[in-house]
Amino acid sequence: MTNHPSDLLWWQRGVIYQVYPRSFQDTTGNGVGDLEGVIQRLDYLADLGVDALWLSPIYPSPMADFGYDVADYCNVDPLFGDLATFDRLVAEAHARGIRIILDYVLNHTSDQHPCFVESRSSRDSAKRDWYIWRDPRPGEGDDEGGDDRQRRPPNNWGSFFGGPAWTFDEATGQYYLHQFLPEQPELNWRNPAVKAAMLDVIRFWMERGVDGLRMDVVWLIIKDADLRDNPPNPDADPDLPPNDIHGRQLHVYSGDQEEVHAYIRDIRRVLDEYEAPGKERCGIGEIYLPLARWVRYYGAAADGTGDELHLPYNFRLIPLPWEAAAMRRSVDEMEAALPPFAWPNYVLGNHDQVRLATRYGGQRQPQLVARTAAMMLLTLRGTPTIYYGEELGMEQAQIPPDRIQDPPGVKLGPSYSRDGCRTPMQWRRDVNAGFCSADVEPWLPIPGNFVSRNAAAQSEDPASMLNLYRRLLHDRRQTPALYRGHYRSLDVVEARDTNPKACDDCFVYLREWNGERRLVALNFVDRSLEIDVPGEQTGRITLSSYLDREENVDLDHLTLRPHEGIIVEL
Ligand code: GLC
Repeated sequence: MTNHPSDLLWWQRGVIYQVYPRSFQDTTGNGVGDLEGVIQRLDYLADLGVDALWLSPIYPSPMADFGYDVADYCNVDPLFGDLATFDRLVAEAHARGIRIILDYVLNHTSDQHPCFVESRSSRDSAKRDWYIWRDPRPGEGDDEGGDDRQRRPPNNWGSFFGGPAWTFDEATGQYYLHQFLPEQPELNWRNPAVKAAMLDVIRFWMERGVDGLRMDVVWLIIKDADLRDNPPNPDADPDLPPNDIHGRQLHVYSGDQEEVHAYIRDIRRVLDEYEAPGKERCGIGEIYLPLARWVRYYGAAADGTGDELHLPYNFRLIPLPWEAAAMRRSVDEMEAALPPFAWPNYVLGNHDQVRLATRYGGQRQPQLVARTAAMMLLTLRGTPTIYYGEELGMEQAQIPPDRIQDPPGVKLGPSYSRDGCRTPMQWRRDVNAGFCSADVEPWLPIPGNFVSRNAAAQSEDPASMLNLYRRLLHDRRQTPALYRGHYRSLDVVEARDTNPKACDDCFVYLREWNGERRLVALNFVDRSLEIDVPGEQTGRITLSSYLDREENVDLDHLTLRPHEGIIVEL
């Protein structure tokens, strides 16, 4: 992109858009999206103004966890297309200046992966040690979810999806580890042959022109060498379902082990093998950990730069209530915790999280809140990731219980289901929202509001959410202060003649680069605010989340309408 200085890399200056391929665009008439569908929608994405696509898994898979159970790392599931279609997607995306990031599911395979089939076949199999097999724990007593009191799992770990993290294999008399479904056995990365094979998978895709990887649950790939029991979590919610063993523990031994960092450095070295000017590769990791543990995944090379992930995904804003002070604190803590070389990033939604327009459900005007949230995501310092459909304000769908597909929803109860954020993209007002033809049933039901909430309708409406995203992405791209500037949050007061009072209902920050300055002011409440921005006199509003004003303003008396966000040129 010519208007960017070359000293920032694409994954720093750009914006990532997550496509959940099953739900984006069906072109084969089976009710499931495919790669050809992504190709057909590239012009939409280029017009929206995103710089990279992260595709959730596209590999051959029995789909027990919708592709997060990989049976072949070096191919494309026929449901989605084939390698030739994939190559065309990469070429067509690159032709539009859009990078491709693949989901690299490295902690576990499918139980149908040939390596697991072989590993399971006998205790003497050459691949036995490619997975984590252990004898039953001797003795009787508490069975921690095991189904046989005489036969206890090797330790007390629970699965994220309910029940124990171990499944007993009758034929060979041992348990294997899986922190997700039994259909997702965990690889033994401590075995050098496993590591070598998995690093070759990265080379396979880098050679096909892939620009980056999003590494699934990467903090889990190394477990305690002795597989010690996790301690109980004293703060666990007492109302958790009985089989939520995982939710009752502190995950001290089942992930985030010191040794994991050396493995991530090995992965990074492979990405670096393919680094070339204009072809920089980006390693992103899914890391759900407290800040001090999380920040270590950037790595710390002797030369003062990072040698692990370019971007450990920052999910810290997601669980927060919709409160200005809480958001500000999280961002300020993040900024303070980052080493100088580390590039920040922000995420508000993905295929595991409740959709934005529904998450802040206590709010009376969720669509206005979703607009303010979009402005925050796209004006903070660092790389934003947008989840597909957020640009339309898509809501979390209510899935009828008999149509729940997501494994945790089935095993732990409907409230654990992630289906509601994975419904088909809403393109048009036609039957099935333009996602698939009218005569097939989409794999998940499409919420009825697609009739008005769809890309075609919003494209025509100058004040729509879609046009807000387009403007935010466009303005960000044109404005170095926004895509690379420093960040500083500001204390503001309510504008009053006497007794000015600190205003905690808005989040206000400055972005600044080379003398160019932008003020972002986000009103988090459902009433108008009049604020005084200390030290600033006048400015020009270049964008309001209502998309209806561009005007000069006095900053000692700045009015923000309910849930309004504005960008002010200073
Ligand atoms: C990650 C994915 C999630 C998946 C799980 C197991 O958390 O984001 O969708 O179910 O890993 O692979």
